[in-house]
Amino acid sequence: MKSILKTQLVNKFFHDPNEFHVLKDISIEVDKGELVTLVGKSGCGKSTLLYILSTMDRDYKGDLYLDNELMTHKSIDELAAIRNEKIGFVFQFHYLLQEFSCLKNVMIPALRLGKLSPQEIEAKAYERLKTLGLADQALKNASKLSGGQQQRVAIARALINDPLIIMGDEPTGNLDSKNTAIVFEIFKDLAHNAGQTIIAVTHDEDFAQKSDRIIEMKDGMII
Ligand SMILES: Nc1ncnc2c1ncn2[C@@H]1O[C@H](COP(=O)(O)OP(=O)(O)O)[C@@H](O)[C@H]1O
Ligand SMILES: [Mg+2]
Repeated sequence: MKSILKTQLVNKFFHDPNEFHVLKDISIEVDKGELVTLVGKSGCGKSTLLYILSTMDRDYKGDLYLDNELMTHKSIDELAAIRNEKIGFVFQFHYLLQEFSCLKNVMIPALRLGKLSPQEIEAKAYERLKTLGLADQALKNASKLSGGQQQRVAIARALINDPLIIMGDEPTGNLDSKNTAIVFEIFKDLAHNAGQTIIAVTHDEDFAQKSDRIIEMKDGMII
């Protein structure tokens, strides 16, 4: 299988207020088309690890590879460009721009990437919304949608640049069980039928059990 994401002996320390070894020798590998969940008790280091995997935190020891390219030591600007092109994000709170239409929200990362014309981006954003069953909501302001619908818009937005990997920190953390199940089915379909690689932090046991692989952490280590 093609390796999309890999860490070798990642260690991280926080220094404030006290010296704290938060991640210890983290070596993981995620392949193309895998739906992986990252689980563990609150405070074990999941978000800290995801922040490193997403290239947003550069302050760690060890190596991080994305698409077989070493990310460690790259500059902030280089990483921002790589991130915009290769990683889609879905958070617990969707962070949609509430006063913008769903369509516009989905278009924004592609407009920022600047590889397609605005017309092409609009057509693509519409397609993504359609895939997620939201075609009829495209022109509504995000604020008019339910929480579950908004999270699907956030997934459409994460998909707009055809990312190598989607990363989610508690992507269903704010959803009821029905909408959690819908989001899970979307992720599973993307992974198994479109080869989309997905890594999601979750505390939802059912969601994790149904994923392809569970990476479990305890006290900053993989167990
Ligand atoms: N910026 C920070 N400075 C110091 N300690 C932090 C910081 N961010 C998180 N921590 C600590 O690191 C540990 C791991 O946090 P986190 O990765 O958010 O855990 P999780 O997402 O698994 O709940 C916790 O003990 C938390 O208090
Ligand atoms: Mg967390």
